[in-house]
Amino acid sequence: MKIVDFRSDTVTCPGDEMRKVIFEASVGDAGYDDDPSVNELESLAAELVGQEAALFVSSGIMGNIVSTLTHCRRGEAILVGDKAHIYRYEGGGFSAITGVLPYVLDDEAGVPSPESVKDACPIRNVHFAQPSLLCLENTHNDRGGLAVSPVEFQKTVEMGHDMGLAVHLDGARIFNAAAAWDVDVKEYTASVDSVQFCLSKGLGAPMGALLCGSEEFISRAKFARKMVGGELRQAGFMAAAGIYALKKNVDRLVKDHENASIAEGLLSSAGLTVESVPEGTRATNMIYFHLPESGPDSEELSRRCLDKGVLLNAMEPRRIRLVTHLDMDEKDLRRGLEVILEEVSNS
Ligand SMILES: Cc1ncc(COP(=O)(O)O)c(C=O)c1O
Repeated sequence: MKIVDFRSDTVTCPGDEMRKVIFEASVGDAGYDDDPSVNELESLAAELVGQEAALFVSSGIMGNIVSTLTHCRRGEAILVGDKAHIYRYEGGGFSAITGVLPYVLDDEAGVPSPESVKDACPIRNVHFAQPSLLCLENTHNDRGGLAVSPVEFQKTVEMGHDMGLAVHLDGARIFNAAAAWDVDVKEYTASVDSVQFCLSKGLGAPMGALLCGSEEFISRAKFARKMVGGELRQAGFMAAAGIYALKKNVDRLVKDHENASIAEGLLSSAGLTVESVPEGTRATNMIYFHLPESGPDSEELSRRCLDKGVLLNAMEPRRIRLVTHLDMDEKDLRRGLEVILEEVSNS
C-alpha cells in the first residue's frame, strides 16, 4: 500500500532522474568557492529572483538566521508578523542567536499592513530598540498557505523602505506564491533586500535553501553562515539536486494547488469546516480544517489514519493541516481523503 503523506511538502524523496543528477554531480570544496555545482546553483538562483548574488545554505531557517545576523546588530528590533515562521516556528533562533527584539505585527492578511509597519516604528530615542529589518513571509504557512498578491506585497515593502528598514522575505514557498498569481517570481523578490527560498519543499530537492541579495549583502552573509557552521564542502551533490528542482519542478506547482483545491472541496462537502484564505489572497498547496467536537480529536484521527497509510499534521487539538506535493497524484489524494473522511465520521 502506498503511503499518502499529507504532513508537509518537505516529505518528498528524490525520484530516479534527480538521484542520477546527484550521483553524477561535479563537486569541489564549496568553502573555497571550488564547487562548480554550488556556483551554478547560486548563479541560477540569483538570476531567477532578480538579485545580484545568492548563497547556498542548508535550510530555510539557516537562511533566515544568516539574513537577520547580516542585516541587524544585537539590540536592534525586527518587525515580524504574529504568525510568522521566523517568530513562532524557528525555536526562538532569531532571539537566541541574533539577539534582536521582535516588534510583532498582525499578519492576518498575509503581510502586515503598511500602516502597521509605519506605526510600529518608534521615534528615535534611546528608550526604544530601533528597528532595522522588516520580515515578510509569502506564501504564509500558518495563515493557510495563503499567497499575498504582488500589489499588496509591494505596498508593505515600500512602507518598510520608506521607514528606513531593510526588507527580508522568508520566501520558503515564494514559487508557490508566484504560481498562484501567475506572475514571474521577480515581482516579489526583486524589490526586497534579501530573500530566502527553500529547495526542499514544493520543489522536491532533499535539502537546502538559497539566500539572495546584493553582492555586498551576500559577501557579508558569508561571514554569518560561517559563524553558524553553515559552510559546506562538497555540497555540489545537493546543489545539483537543487538545480534540477529549479529547472523541472517550478512549473508543476500549479498541480499541487489544483489538488489542494480538490481536497478543500471534498472536505467542505463532507460538512467539515475548512479555513478559507482572506479576500484578496489566494490559496496554494495547504489546507487547514477543523474537526467537530463529536468525533476524534487531531491526535486520535492521526493515529487512526496512520494505521491505514495516511499521514496528517495535527497542528492543534482540533485543527489539521494537509499539504499537497509532487509525491502525491490526484488518485493518492482522493484515497487519502476517503480514509480521513471515513475516520472522522467513525466516532
Ligand atoms: C515559511 C517558512 N519559512 C521557513 C521554513 C524553514 O525551512 P527549513 O525547514 O528548511 O528550515 C519553513 C518550513 O516549513 C517555512 O514554512
